[in-house]
Amino acid sequence: MLKTESITHSYGEGPTAVTVLDDVSITIPENGFTSIVGRSGSGKSTLLSVISSLLRPEQGTVYFKDREITSLSGSEIDRLRKDEFSIIFQSHHLLPYLTAHENVLLPFLDSLRPANEQLLEHGRTCLERVGLKGKENRLPGQLSGGEQQRVAIARALVKSPSILFADEPCGSLDKATGNEIMGILQDLNDEGLTIAMVTHERVHASMAKDTILLEDGRTL
Ligand SMILES: Nc1ncnc2c1ncn2[C@@H]1O[C@H](COP(=O)(O)OP(=O)(O)OP(=O)(O)O)[C@@H](O)[C@H]1O
Ligand SMILES: [Mg+2]
Repeated sequence: MLKTESITHSYGEGPTAVTVLDDVSITIPENGFTSIVGRSGSGKSTLLSVISSLLRPEQGTVYFKDREITSLSGSEIDRLRKDEFSIIFQSHHLLPYLTAHENVLLPFLDSLRPANEQLLEHGRTCLERVGLKGKENRLPGQLSGGEQQRVAIARALVKSPSILFADEPCGSLDKATGNEIMGILQDLNDEGLTIAMVTHERVHASMAKDTILLEDGRTL
């Protein structure tokens, strides 16, 4: 589904440049659940940004569905990300003044047109999928941290992505709540969703199907 060839990336320029990814070649198979692990500063988030096309690497190539995506134009990348990719982060980035249901539908809401009933129902189905039936009309502030992350997952699902990228999705949650979120991700993967997840929790990494270990920007 997704493959990189010899990704190299540094931050800064000239003598102060620091190489953060060094010749990284990885493969994320279709229907895979791949965890990316390593110490703080090893380059995990940078690698996730590169494969999710948020960041163009200095060198190397990323292929998605056998198509090179590293040389796409800005608008082609925007389209690809809109159609195929969803990303969730440690912090859920929900809008505090919108309900769970509205947050989930945000990618589709158009201020000029009212949402149709089919779209509203799809949003409710995505919330039900992550166990939030009955809490659709709560504001993020009326939900627990784990529930807020569930809303973020529902929002990531609403456009039926080909691949879900997650950067420390359980990073701000307690152990039990983090395990619940991991259970949801496993279920989604069982249903066919390809997932690439950064984590520093060994237990969570072991719940994925494959693990990529990064050390100082290199794969081991
Ligand atoms: N925008 C940036 N500009 C300069 N340096 C950066 C930038 N982003 C990250 N770095 C540096 O690159 C290295 C790798 O960062 P990255 O965020 O990829 O690590 P990480 O493995 O995700 O760490 P953590 O587990 O703490 O999230 C770190 O040394 C970091 O300080
Ligand atoms: Mg990180």
